[in-house]
Amino acid sequence: MQAINSVSPRTQSFLEKEERYGAHNYHPLPVVLSRGQGVHVWDVDGKRYYDFLSGYSAINQGHCHPRIMQAFMEQAQKLTLTSRAFHNDKLGEFAEYITNFFGYNKVLPMNSGAEAVETGLKLARKWGYEVKGVVPEKAKIVVCEGNFHGRTINIVSFSTDTDSRNNFGPFAPGYDIIPYNDIHALHVALQDPNVVGFLVEPIQGEAGVLVPDDGYLAKAAELCREANVLLIADEIQTGLARTGKMLACDHEKVRPDILLLGKALSGGTMPVSAVLADDEIMLTIKPGQHGSTYGGNPLACSVAIASLQVLVDENMAGNSAIQGEYLRQSLKALNHPHISIVRGKGLFNAIVIDHPNKDAAWDICLEMKENGLLAKPTHGDRIRFAPPLLINRSQIDECVDIIGRSLAKWA
Ligand SMILES: Cc1ncc(COP(=O)(O)O)c(C=O)c1O
Repeated sequence: MQAINSVSPRTQSFLEKEERYGAHNYHPLPVVLSRGQGVHVWDVDGKRYYDFLSGYSAINQGHCHPRIMQAFMEQAQKLTLTSRAFHNDKLGEFAEYITNFFGYNKVLPMNSGAEAVETGLKLARKWGYEVKGVVPEKAKIVVCEGNFHGRTINIVSFSTDTDSRNNFGPFAPGYDIIPYNDIHALHVALQDPNVVGFLVEPIQGEAGVLVPDDGYLAKAAELCREANVLLIADEIQTGLARTGKMLACDHEKVRPDILLLGKALSGGTMPVSAVLADDEIMLTIKPGQHGSTYGGNPLACSVAIASLQVLVDENMAGNSAIQGEYLRQSLKALNHPHISIVRGKGLFNAIVIDHPNKDAAWDICLEMKENGLLAKPTHGDRIRFAPPLLINRSQIDECVDIIGRSLAKWA
C-alpha cells in the first residue's frame, strides 16, 4: 500500500534546492523543518509534529531548551573560540564539571561523535604500546558486527555495513570483528595478547536498537579486566539519560575504561563530544599528538555544562525510564499483525515491521508524518522511536494513537 505523500509547493521548493545543490549522502523524509520547541518541531508550512528521532538522540533535552539556549547565547556574546593555542576561561570549568560528573580523572574534548571514537581508538593504541607493552604496530581492537561508530575511513574500516564501506577502501588494519552479544566470541578474541581495546555500543542504535542480553556488558567488562584490555564504551547515542540511566553502562554498574560521549552533550546546539578516561590512559597522549581546532572551545564548554545540568535537574533519566516502559507497553498493546518486535530501554526503542513489502517501514514513516509524528526507518524494516526525554504520559498516548492510526492501513 502506498502512503499518502502530500508535499506543499513551498516544501517542494526547499526539497528541490537541497537535491540540486547538496550532496546526496542522506535520504530524508520529505519534510522541511523550521522550528522546534520541546518535543515538537514545525515545518515550513506551520504543521506541528512530534519528533521521535531527536536528532539521533542529540536532542534528549528537547528542542531549544531555554537553559541551554541561555548558556549558548550568553557565551556566544563573550568568546566562542580561542583554539587550544591559548587557554580559555571555560575549559577548566567544563573539565572539572564533567570529570566529577562521570567520575574520571581527565577529559579530552572533541566535536563530532566520530572524532570521539577516533580519539578513543588512538588512546587505546597508545596505552597498548606504552603501558601494556604491545609489540610496535601490532595493536588490535575488538569490535562488534552490526556496529555503528561514525563515518571516517578508519571507523568504516571495521563496519559490517556494505553501504558504509563500498568503494571507500583501502581500509585501516588492526580490528577484529566478533558477533555482538556473544560473550564466548569475546572471550576467544581476548586471548590474543595484542588486543588493547574492546569498542562496544551498550545498545546497538543504528542496527535497530539491539539490546544485548542482561549481563552481557558486565561480563564483557570482567573479561576485559582479566585480559588487561580497555573497555571502550561508545555512549554517543545511548548515553546522557536516553536509556533511563545517565549512561547505558549504568544499568549493569559497568565503568568503562574509556567513555565516549557526543550528541546530547550540547542539547542539539552544536557538535560537542568528549572522551573520558583516567590518567594512566589519558596521559599517554602528549602535546601535539592529538587535537582539534574547535575541541574545548568556550562556547561548547558552556553549552555542555548546561546540557548535563539540565538532564539532572529535570530528572530526565527517571522520566526516560518511566515513559519508555509505558511507550513499549502501549506499542505492544496495539497488537498489530505487522509489528513483530517492540524493543528498547528507556526512551530508546524500535519496532520491527514484518511485511512482504520491503518498503513498508518507509511508507509507514510517511504515513506517520502525515499524521504528525516524525520517525525514520533504520536498516529497512526497523523504525526507531526515540523522542526527547521530557515527553509526558499524555503525549505518549497521543503518539501511540498516531502510530496506531498510521499502521491501520497495513493491518
Ligand atoms: C553510537 C554512535 N557512535 C558514533 C556516532 C557518530 O557520531 P557523529 O555523527 O556525531 O560523528 C554515532 C552517530 O549516530 C553513533 O550513533
